[in-house]
Amino acid sequence: MLAESRRTIIIDTDPGQDDAIAILFALGAKDKLDVRAITTVAGNVPLDLTSRNALIVLGWANRTDIPVYAGCSRPLVCDLVTAEDFHGKTGLDGVALDEPTVGLADGHAVDFMIRTLGRAAEKSVTVCLIGPMTNLAVALTKEPTIVRGIKEVVMMAGAFHTRGNVTPVAEFNVYVDPHAAAVVFGSGAPIVVLPLDTTHKALSTKARVTRLSELGNRAGKLIGAILNSHAQREIEKFGAQGGPLHDPCVIAYLLAPWLFSGRNANVVIETQGEFTTGETVVDWYGTTGRPANAFWINDVDADSFYALLTETVRRLP
Ligand code: BDR
Ligand code: CA
Repeated sequence: MLAESRRTIIIDTDPGQDDAIAILFALGAKDKLDVRAITTVAGNVPLDLTSRNALIVLGWANRTDIPVYAGCSRPLVCDLVTAEDFHGKTGLDGVALDEPTVGLADGHAVDFMIRTLGRAAEKSVTVCLIGPMTNLAVALTKEPTIVRGIKEVVMMAGAFHTRGNVTPVAEFNVYVDPHAAAVVFGSGAPIVVLPLDTTHKALSTKARVTRLSELGNRAGKLIGAILNSHAQREIEKFGAQGGPLHDPCVIAYLLAPWLFSGRNANVVIETQGEFTTGETVVDWYGTTGRPANAFWINDVDADSFYALLTETVRRLP
């Protein structure tokens, strides 16, 4: 029996190593999360690869019944910036990739979002954004009334207490499409943000990765292999005990929000800074008088987060 309180979600993503782990995490929590579709966007690698990777990841979990809609192939205004240096040429470095066994769903991700959110009951669908926010920004621009169907937008984006990972102040997902982020933050949708402030506290230490790798199932092995490859680059860059695990924090927040803490704040996006484009400007102390438009999370119980991830992945093939 599936719990009645199952949350309907759309995962908008650019897989991407940590995106792949986030998708598997969500699929493992089948009793709590109803993944209605995966929508893809250009980001870590170009759109053809993020879409292909989404299909491959669903295959790993035997869940090719979930449709994958390809979305925007470039940001609204800026040229596309990708991150092969972190995620590898395919976007999923560290694991061997088979050809996907199913194809993409017909139609564009933006049209899927408009259709689904437009028809949904008020505040009923959660949109998880774990890549650049181009698809939702276009959907909200084309049909602003769809905001009514959104329960929450829960996103991995931005940096405030921690500095940026692409520029000294900008986090990748916001940096790649700052204009899209500005649309989403200005939309009036309820927003929860898992920024680098939090994800840099969720480090994939050796012990945590070993527990995942040794679960004895395929998903655990794949995640272990991805993390071993991912963490190495992040450790080299940030010099920590392990790599930060970004996108899975979004799924953990849906399943166990009590593991996270933060505060409501106004967030605006710098779109035309000389050196600061893509910065998330968070009014943490309420100095501007601008109304709060997001719940900004700055802390996580990292041990419990990894325990939840491990126990959830255990349920997958
Ligand atoms: C974000 O950027 C991407 O490289 C990751 O997948 C994550 O969504 C972290 O800044
Ligand atoms: Ca991502």
